[in-house]
Amino acid sequence: MSATDIQAVFARQVFDSRGRPTVEAEVSLAGGASGRASAPSGASRGAAEAFELRDSDPDRFEGRGVSRAVAAVNGEIGALLTGRDALAQRGADQAMRDLDGTAQLSRLGGNAILAVSIALARAGAAATGQPLFRRLADLAGVSGPAMPMPMVNILSGGLHAGRGMDVQDFLVIPVGANSYTQALEWVLRVRAAAAALCQEAGLTTLLADEGGLSPGFADGAEALTLMVRAFERAGLRPGEDAAIALDIAASSLTDAEGRYVFQRAGRTLDSGAMIALLAEWTTRFPIISIEDGLGEEDWSAWPELTRHLGHIQLIGDDLFATQADRIARGVREGAGNAALIKINQNGTLSGTLDALEAARAGGFATVISARSGETEDPFIADLAVGVAGGQIKIGSVRTSERMAKYNQLLRLEEEGLPFAGSGFIRR
Ligand code: PGA
Ligand code: ZN
Repeated sequence: MSATDIQAVFARQVFDSRGRPTVEAEVSLAGGASGRASAPSGASRGAAEAFELRDSDPDRFEGRGVSRAVAAVNGEIGALLTGRDALAQRGADQAMRDLDGTAQLSRLGGNAILAVSIALARAGAAATGQPLFRRLADLAGVSGPAMPMPMVNILSGGLHAGRGMDVQDFLVIPVGANSYTQALEWVLRVRAAAAALCQEAGLTTLLADEGGLSPGFADGAEALTLMVRAFERAGLRPGEDAAIALDIAASSLTDAEGRYVFQRAGRTLDSGAMIALLAEWTTRFPIISIEDGLGEEDWSAWPELTRHLGHIQLIGDDLFATQADRIARGVREGAGNAALIKINQNGTLSGTLDALEAARAGGFATVISARSGETEDPFIADLAVGVAGGQIKIGSVRTSERMAKYNQLLRLEEEGLPFAGSGFIRR
C-alpha cells in the first residue's frame, strides 16, 4: 500500500445553516492524511442539477433525512474507493458516477458523491503537503490562482425570504476596490448602511436564509433605490465604487404557461416583458450583472435577453446547473455570457472543473457560488482562488456558514495572490 491509497471512507449526517440534514464525508489515506467535507443544499434548485438523495420519511426531519445517502457512502462508495490512489481524483469521480449509473446521480445521491469527492480532494492536498487551493489549481490545470471579486447579497426575496419580495437577490459588487480586503470592508459598510436605512424606515431587519435583509418591497425598483442609497450612505460612488447585481431566480417565478409571476408587484410577464423590465431597471440603476433573468426552460428567449443586455454580465444558474454540456449549449446559442458554478449542482469536483472549462473555452465569465443551505465548510473559497474563477457569491456578510468562506479568503489573500478587481466581470 502506498501512502496516498484510500484506507477508509466514512460519512455521517450533520445539519446545515437551515437546520436541515446534510452529508459529511471523511476520507483517510494509508499514510495518515485525511480530508473532510460536507454537501451544501439549495432552495431554488434547477431541474437539471444533481439529485439530492433524501429519506422521504415524513416522521423524521420533515422527510429531509440523509441516512440513505450516508449509508451509500459507508457501503457501496467506500467499497469502491478503498485501495484506490487518492491523487487520481478524476478516476475516482468517474468511478462514483459509473457506480451510481444515473444521469443525475439519483441512485446513490449527488449529496453523497459530492461530499466524498471534496473530502478526497482535501485528503489529496494533505497527502501532498499542498495548500488546498494549490491542489485545486493543479487539478484544474490553472497556473495562476487569483483572488475573486465578491458579489454579496444585501437584500433577499424569493424562496430565501418567504417570497417577501419577488426578486431573490439584490447584491453589491464593490467594483472599485483594489484588494479583496478592501472589497470586503466596503461590502460590510454597505450591509450596515442598508440595515440602518431599513430600520429608519420602520422595515424589518430580520435575516433571510443567506443573511440578507428582506424589507418586503412590492416593487423591485424600491429595493434598487435602497441599494443605491446604501452605497451613498457607505461613502461609495454608485456605479464607480459599488455596482448592483441581481439574481432574479426566474425559474422559481415561472407559471404553467412559462410566464413570470411577480406576486408582490401583482404583474405577470411573458419573456419579452421580462426582458423589457430588466432593461428598464438597468437604465435606471447601476446594474452590471443579472443572474437567471429568464427561466431554465426559456432557452428560446435567452438569446434575445443576451442581445438586449449583453453589455452587462448575464449569468445562467438554473439554466446551466453547472453542467458542461448545458454551458456549451449556452455558448453555441448565445444564451447569457457567464455561468454560475455550484459544486453540488454538478455532483463531483472533476465535473465542476469540466463545467468551468466549458465556460472558459466559450468566453463566458464564471462565478463560484454557495447555496442557500450551507455548512461551515469553506471549500468554495479555495476553489474560487485555485481555479481563478474570478468572482464568488457566498450570500450576505452575516452568519458563520457564510463568514467561514469570507474569512478563508482573507487567509488566502496572505499568499500574495493577485486581485483583478472587476477585471473578470463580463462586460
Ligand atoms: P439556492 O439559491 O442555493 O437556494 O438554489 C442560490 C441561487 O439561486 O443562486
Ligand atoms: Zn441563482
